[in-house]
Amino acid sequence: MSAVRASGFGIAALPRIVRGRGSCLYDADGKRYLDGSGGPAAFSVGHAHPEINAAIMRQLEEVACGYRYLYTSSALEELSAALLGLCGGAYQEIVFTSSGSEAVESALKIALQHFAARGLPRKRHFIARHRSWHGNTLGALSVSGFAQRRQSFEGSLLDVSFVRAANVYRPPAGTAAAQLPQVLADELEQTILARGAENVAAFIFEPIVGAAGGVVPAPEGYAAAMQAVCRRHDVLMIADEVMCGSGRSGTWRTLAHDGVVADIMAIAKGLAGGYIPLAATLCTARVSGPILSEHGAFQTGHTFSGHTAACAAGLAVQGLIDRERLVERVSRRGAEFQTALRAALARFAEVGDVRGRGFFLGIEFVADPVTKAPFPRERALSFDIGARAFRDGLICYPCAGNVDGQSGDTIILAPPYNASDAELEEILSKLTTAVAAALASKP
Ligand SMILES: Cc1ncc(COP(=O)(O)O)c(C=O)c1O
Repeated sequence: MSAVRASGFGIAALPRIVRGRGSCLYDADGKRYLDGSGGPAAFSVGHAHPEINAAIMRQLEEVACGYRYLYTSSALEELSAALLGLCGGAYQEIVFTSSGSEAVESALKIALQHFAARGLPRKRHFIARHRSWHGNTLGALSVSGFAQRRQSFEGSLLDVSFVRAANVYRPPAGTAAAQLPQVLADELEQTILARGAENVAAFIFEPIVGAAGGVVPAPEGYAAAMQAVCRRHDVLMIADEVMCGSGRSGTWRTLAHDGVVADIMAIAKGLAGGYIPLAATLCTARVSGPILSEHGAFQTGHTFSGHTAACAAGLAVQGLIDRERLVERVSRRGAEFQTALRAALARFAEVGDVRGRGFFLGIEFVADPVTKAPFPRERALSFDIGARAFRDGLICYPCAGNVDGQSGDTIILAPPYNASDAELEEILSKLTTAVAAALASKP
């Protein structure tokens, strides 16, 4: 085993990965790890699937990459058609990139270009939410409400307005869960008006918050209420589905669950399942129309936009998901898995909340179940649990800072959509063991 450097997940010495098969990874010492979180909710169909590897190899044998601005390709065209179909015709145009941050960056730029094309160049301001994560490039970081990750860069970030998160477990003081959508929609409207609607370009949010909140789905009616406010003030709605999307939450588009189509949507992680980096930003005809008629093209793109082999990987992953009806499985099995997880963790008073949808589940730990006070930050409880699970051969995704940007402990589970029933049971039992050991230990 080689010690490279400590990981942000609290693992002191990183093992050397040599092989993956299905839901499992193996290190150089032959140790097996069950991938209970698909890495960071990325590995949608597990590792080293022969069908996907073969599709990528076929593409590589023809050509790895035809430069997007000189050529189209079958992989690019077929994947584009497949994605537009999976979105039920809601979207018209797609810009491909290589990471979630780039997809969000493109979403922000498409919103700005849309208003520039309409002769509204003052509409530049973005509104985002506290307890959110949109990526590590400066634009995406600017709209991220994640104090820990912003700290070193403050002063160079865009001036962004932040509104409160839609968190049923931690609602604003005095607000009942049923009132959340209206209260938060009112807050968005006040924020737009305070800035001047003529200055506001877009509101960006994660339909299910990932790492910044520990899987926080918005309550019923929230997305529609926020969209109604955006529409009233000619503000675009951007859905960041980088983590929760591409089928992970049990519908291919997360917002399909809410009957809402955001004007712009970013997707990444599960799209090509980590076989080759691939991300995409989709927008409606209403958004792309002025851009294409006034400017002719989107002014956002990168050398490897629409990389041919990456598109072949995305096409193969989506083909497998479609043929094996994995989104339906995620929806059905996810609900059962969540019930089993809740039951397995019920004996721990420190488990404050178990939540999520499909194969995207979060567990929140609290020092006091009545006040919901978090554990002290220095206790690093989630990383302690994550490290114990990892030693025992289970990969989960520990997160910190969901309460106030610094403290708060959550664990994310996001297994591959095709993880077997036995593997799901093993995830439950190993996680429960790690939680019990961490809670029993004196820090
Ligand atoms: C919701 C969300 N948006 C954007 C990103 C950034 O994606 P990437 O790390 O691929 O740049 C992430 C990454 O975790 C994410 O969870």
